[in-house]
Amino acid sequence: MLNNSDLILVAGATGGVGQLVVAKLLEKNLSVRALTRNQDKAQQMFDNKVDIVVGDIRYPDTLRTATKDVTHIICCTGTTAFPSQRWDFANLFDPKNTPQAVDGEGVKNLILATPKNLKRFVFVSSCGVLRKDKLPFNILNTFGVLDAKLYAENTLKSSGLPYTIIRPGRLIDGPYTSYDLNTLLRAKTDGKKAVVLGTGDTLNGETSRIDVANVCVECLNYDVTINQAIDIINSGVRPAVIDWKQLFNSIM
Ligand SMILES: NC(=O)c1ccc[n+]([C@@H]2O[C@H](COP(=O)([O-])OP(=O)(O)OC[C@H]3O[C@@H](n4cnc5c(N)ncnc54)[C@H](OP(=O)(O)O)[C@@H]3O)[C@@H](O)[C@H]2O)c1
Repeated sequence: MLNNSDLILVAGATGGVGQLVVAKLLEKNLSVRALTRNQDKAQQMFDNKVDIVVGDIRYPDTLRTATKDVTHIICCTGTTAFPSQRWDFANLFDPKNTPQAVDGEGVKNLILATPKNLKRFVFVSSCGVLRKDKLPFNILNTFGVLDAKLYAENTLKSSGLPYTIIRPGRLIDGPYTSYDLNTLLRAKTDGKKAVVLGTGDTLNGETSRIDVANVCVECLNYDVTINQAIDIINSGVRPAVIDWKQLFNSIM
């Protein structure tokens, strides 16, 4: 169960899911530390309501301050599955920000920098990690994004840390990058679809970034989700209130 003395590190805090995770945690009056590569962007986005630490998960030395004294980590970092500007081609000297460097080795660096007494490490992975040879996931994996996600999942599983892996489908709703915190807190799923959870990487569909953020935060309140990999998509009619306890219990 989360409580007021907890300090939750959100890696990828300025990203589409990460911003919503931060907003959900602040809504619950929890203490948040944001790991970001861009201090100005984070400061503008979070309005001095979170502790901001600059770091890049490709570089282990930049992660020590970020992980100091944290009780939980929610890792929402990611790069594009296919070559794009976000792979940092312009920078000749840094290693490129590829799936292998970010989703694979970068997440491993964060896991290795984590305090051993951490209460939970939540990692946003992807559906398809166990179906990499099947359409459409074989195409998505052309540049190794699913290989990298699975590598990070396996590193986390063998780390001995209490973990929860989240495997969403293709992300929809957002990113909300131009919005401020108040707008983020009011963000809704455009589709008004229900949350469907599963295990074993068997679900197919789209997932609202809002519900990825919701499941990342809500799972921290339920021990039944410890050391589990949870698939999540949106489908069916959304109830007025999402019963997370019932949803988690239904798949465990
Ligand atoms: N897109 C999909 O359909 C899909 C499907 C399944 C799973 N996912 C996964 O869902 C998660 C959230 O997706 P999203 O769309 O919200 O992501 P996003 O908006 O692209 O955000 C990614 C975040 O990662 C950060 N980041 C990138 N490289 C980094 C590095 N080297 N060191 C530290 N931080 C770094 C970015 O920081 P900057 O602001 O500094 O760039 C950004 O905050 C990702 O893990 C993604 O792989 C996505």
